[in-house]
Amino acid sequence: MEFHVTTLTSKDACMHALRRPQLSSNPGRTMAGSANLLFMDGEPHTRLRAVVRDIISQLEPLPGQVQDDIRAIVADLRNRAEIDLVADFGRPIAAVVAAAVLAAEQGLTSELLEQISGTAANLNVWIGGTAPASSAMHRVVRFFLKATPIPGGGLDRLRRAQRAGEITEDELLVTPVMLTHAAYENSTNFLAAAALQLSRSPDLAEHFVSGSRQVGTVRDMANQICPTRHVMRRATEPLDVTGTHIREGEGVAVSIGPPNALAFGTGPHSCPGIKVALAEAEFALRLIAPLLTTPWQPVSVEEKNHFVFYGLTRALIRRSSSPAEHCA
Ligand code: HEM
Repeated sequence: MEFHVTTLTSKDACMHALRRPQLSSNPGRTMAGSANLLFMDGEPHTRLRAVVRDIISQLEPLPGQVQDDIRAIVADLRNRAEIDLVADFGRPIAAVVAAAVLAAEQGLTSELLEQISGTAANLNVWIGGTAPASSAMHRVVRFFLKATPIPGGGLDRLRRAQRAGEITEDELLVTPVMLTHAAYENSTNFLAAAALQLSRSPDLAEHFVSGSRQVGTVRDMANQICPTRHVMRRATEPLDVTGTHIREGEGVAVSIGPPNALAFGTGPHSCPGIKVALAEAEFALRLIAPLLTTPWQPVSVEEKNHFVFYGLTRALIRRSSSPAEHCA
């Protein structure tokens, strides 16, 4: 089946597109009702989103336990000669926050976190592919279905919302996957890339050591790194977006990456986790910054190759030991 995707690149067009109700985040066609959809809320997108916002707000400000867990992760890096900023920093910190959002008694194992990342392959439906991630999806669904919720936490709130008729049974199954993926994938990508920038710029690292709050700097870094490069939409009817005609059923890739600086999106689907994401990154970067004010050498930096997400699969840095290395 022919699958046409128009890419919008100008900031003006992207801002308009993200606010147009005729551009749905539901990929439609055969995928419209399947469990592969990340967000099955109806057109106004307020009912499920309100529940999700309520859950995320429990992490604003970052709870003490989350702060302690992040401190422990960074403390472990102190005397290391080599750090992989993805495996040792970005992933474990994002995992702490993702686990705190859902708050299940059973922790998120590294195998489960891999499955959570794997659900990103469901985005292939947007470029005409099938959804190879369904087995990853089913495992994550099963985990949260069987998990014991910590009273008052995110999973508990979702189950109560379903019993009260605020969300459907399908939404109860899919929302934990969507939420953990949203919290884990983007933050992993951002934290690792941001820490790599600090390791390459001792001045920037010094800035984070100064003691003052750095939320503005972190937001600028997020807009520059932009872990989500495109968000995908489908036209539910024909429309014009700042001069570009889009046919009914057509896919639209909205470029939110550089230079558009829309890291957290805009409009009805804009990131409801922005405050948590910025607080988490600011807290973690201020902790790791003192380590990165001394010179480090990049040893191996590998980028992800994904049409939606920008991130690193590995960012290995090594402490410089000789003056020659310092100058390299
Ligand atoms: C640096 C980290 C993050 C970045 C750059 C980011 C970026 C984004 C973007 C661009 C979207 C919009 C997608 C669209 O328009 O289709 C989004 C949606 C979302 N994000 Fe984030 N995010 C981050 C972290 C988080 C965190 C920590 C959470 C949860 C605690 C979260 C929860 C969500 C949810 C639930 C959605 C779906 C919203 C909807 O469809 O209404 N995000 N995020």
